Amino acid sequence: MRIDVISAVPKILESPLGESILKRAREKGLAEIAIHDLRDYAEGNYRQLDDKPFGGGAGMVLKPEPVFKCINALLKARSYDEIIYLTPQGSKFNQKKANQLSLKENIMIICGHYKGLDQRVIDKFVTCELSIGDYVITGGEGAAIVVIDAVVRLIPGVLGDSESALTDSFQTDSGFDAPVYTRPAEYEGLKVPEVLLNGNHKEIAEWRAKMGEEKFGKVKNSTSKDTAAKDTAAKDTAAKDTAAKDKTSKGSAAKDT
Ligand code: ADE
Repeated sequence: MRIDVISAVPKILESPLGESILKRAREKGLAEIAIHDLRDYAEGNYRQLDDKPFGGGAGMVLKPEPVFKCINALLKARSYDEIIYLTPQGSKFNQKKANQLSLKENIMIICGHYKGLDQRVIDKFVTCELSIGDYVITGGEGAAIVVIDAVVRLIPGVLGDSESALTDSFQTDSGFDAPVYTRPAEYEGLKVPEVLLNGNHKEIAEWRAKMGEEKFGKVKNSTSKDTAAKDTAAKDTAAKDTAAKDKTSKGSAAKDT
């Protein structure tokens, strides 16, 4: 698989993509990852990458010219299965998406920066807009590392133990891993669950599935409780706002009459 990453701040990518599993995948030739510095495609004395948004507003927008030039140069060399733009407004990246992307041959990733990317780039080239979560980080580089890591570790041969990617959390039914322990079997009076020491693989598998599901249930329940509490609080505030507005408008209506 080949991944081309386009970035205005390529230095952010170099270290994470050059360490650990990603380093090994690249060395083994299982993942070819090329980083492209947008500034190499910018023109003028200042090699300007961003500009003010038409129509006004806060923040700067990535100019179309350097991005068009960079993408066109890459498209001359090969075609791409996906051209991904990383943005908080994209569809949510998850394990299913990672699995799908890991089967592709060539993908291109555009890291957003500043306020965003000129829409014409998206309209002309982008096949998929992805978000790593409902929060805003400084640039798409952090998101690119997340996506690349999740995808590359799924390529056959990247992980030493071919089983481990399949048993990762989110590949299992519940989506959650069971707790894991290593030696010693007892530390400061804290014991490893007996079932893990008995060598009965069937029992261990059943225990792990049960523990994963229990944890999944706990986390999902707590988030839905949190959400319910927030919903109630939001409704209370909205009700208070409406009551306050009613009072004001009644007051002014009374004054008007
Ligand atoms: N760029 C800034 N925030 C992002 C997010 N949450 N996902 C993808 N790209 C981003």
